[in-house]
Amino acid sequence: MFEAHSLASLSKPDQYVELHRQMTALLAGEDNPIANAGNFSALVMASLSGLNWCGFYFFDGTELVLGPFQGKPACLRIPLNRGVCGAAASSRKTQLVPNVHDFPGHIACDAASQSEIVVPLVRDGALIGVWDVDSPMLNRFDMDDQRGMEALCQVYLSSRDQLALPLYRSNG
Ligand code: SME
Repeated sequence: MFEAHSLASLSKPDQYVELHRQMTALLAGEDNPIANAGNFSALVMASLSGLNWCGFYFFDGTELVLGPFQGKPACLRIPLNRGVCGAAASSRKTQLVPNVHDFPGHIACDAASQSEIVVPLVRDGALIGVWDVDSPMLNRFDMDDQRGMEALCQVYLSSRDQLALPLYRSNG
């Protein structure tokens, strides 16, 4: 059994150091992208405070499709020209949004969400999808979170078997 605990007593950089260590151990030995995405979401939600939603959207070659997540039911499909997720996917740059109400085209899946960070998932030059995290607090995410989330996403990407069929055929 893997025990996940809140890391709130640590400094934010140390939370991500510990979370990175735990994530590496949790995903070790499994290369199924859905199984690992499920545990990835669950560990982040159990470890970090001030989150109301976190999860994956995977690129199907046309748009982003909801994957494993923690939180309330969310929108199923997001075109690349819509929302924070679409911006992260099309620019391939992490989107750090202090106030979602100020982001043009933000898609509200959970009305509680006030701030958001979305990390693009790119492997071997191909867009795999995005990792999306929402908070009910304004300004919940900063550069420590960006660095930490991007490093965690590398753990997820490394866990995917290079030889396994991709979830979808990607033209990205
Ligand atoms: N807010 C996102 C949509 C996904 S939900 O937050 C789960 C967006 O604007 O793309």
